[in-house]
Amino acid sequence: YPIFAQQGYENPREATGHIVCANCHFANKPVDIEVPQAVLPDTVFEAVVRIPYDMQLKQVLANSKKGALNVGAVLILPEGFELAPPDRISLEMKEKIGNLSFQNYRPTKKNILVIGPVPDPASNKDAHFLKYPIYVGGNRGRGQIYPDGNKSNNTVYNATATGIVSKIIRKEKGGYEITITDALDGHQVVDIIPPGPELLVSEGESIKLDQPLTINPNVGGFGQGDAEIVLQDPLCVQGLLFFLASIVFAQIFLVLKKKQFEKVQVSEMNF
Ligand code: HEM
Repeated sequence: YPIFAQQGYENPREATGHIVCANCHFANKPVDIEVPQAVLPDTVFEAVVRIPYDMQLKQVLANSKKGALNVGAVLILPEGFELAPPDRISLEMKEKIGNLSFQNYRPTKKNILVIGPVPDPASNKDAHFLKYPIYVGGNRGRGQIYPDGNKSNNTVYNATATGIVSKIIRKEKGGYEITITDALDGHQVVDIIPPGPELLVSEGESIKLDQPLTINPNVGGFGQGDAEIVLQDPLCVQGLLFFLASIVFAQIFLVLKKKQFEKVQVSEMNF
């Protein structure tokens, strides 16, 4: 969950560009982000994050039953950008947002989904008229490890020793206790499998260290992507429009001047 990232990491995006959700959500699945090419200061804009997955898909839940997948995302905006206050979000946008909830990653950090007002460089010295990167991480499905380091039941369990599977006990509440006996010295280790993942090994089988004991039940996955947005200076746009208008007028006046000169030429010929 994003809350696990919030508790464990000051910044969800590491210096390498790696987004921390992937530390616990092992599988890699695509995400996509769409933002406007450019925005003006102090405006509200939309960032669309797509986390595609098959809605029919079922995953192992914490209680080992099968259930639907949930999605979540983290959006890392440039410094100074923030979530739009409710009174600045249009009705149409409100409809699209529905009952999605948004939260700041930290009270001091602005990693959010629907965004604006964009900072005005005139009033916020942190902001400049520049091209900014935006990063997104999107996840569907349960993670593979908990913040305390324990594995969830939505992951593959591997043998912690080489040897023979000497005993498999199926526990009452589901899950297994697998005893692996070393063929040489008879040393035994017991691997505990929680309810959820299905077994791949059977009694009497000889296995190697780290060989999977279960299937990998994970059908979800995490992905990250990025986009660029230009914080546009209105003065720049006005300046450009003024420049273009001045060129149009200069062209028109040149044509008029040419017409006038042609008249002079014609009248000179009559002499
Ligand atoms: C579950 C998203 C970071 C471990 C989930 C779920 C979502 C999600 C949407 C629910 C999935 C479902 O019910 O189908 C995210 C995002 C993260 C993030 C967007 C980054 C911002 C982490 C981190 C950890 C973690 C850092 C580990 C420390 C888990 C686990 C579950 C889970 C173990 C399953 C919990 C349970 O059902 O018992 N996450 N997650 N997640 N996440 Fe994350």
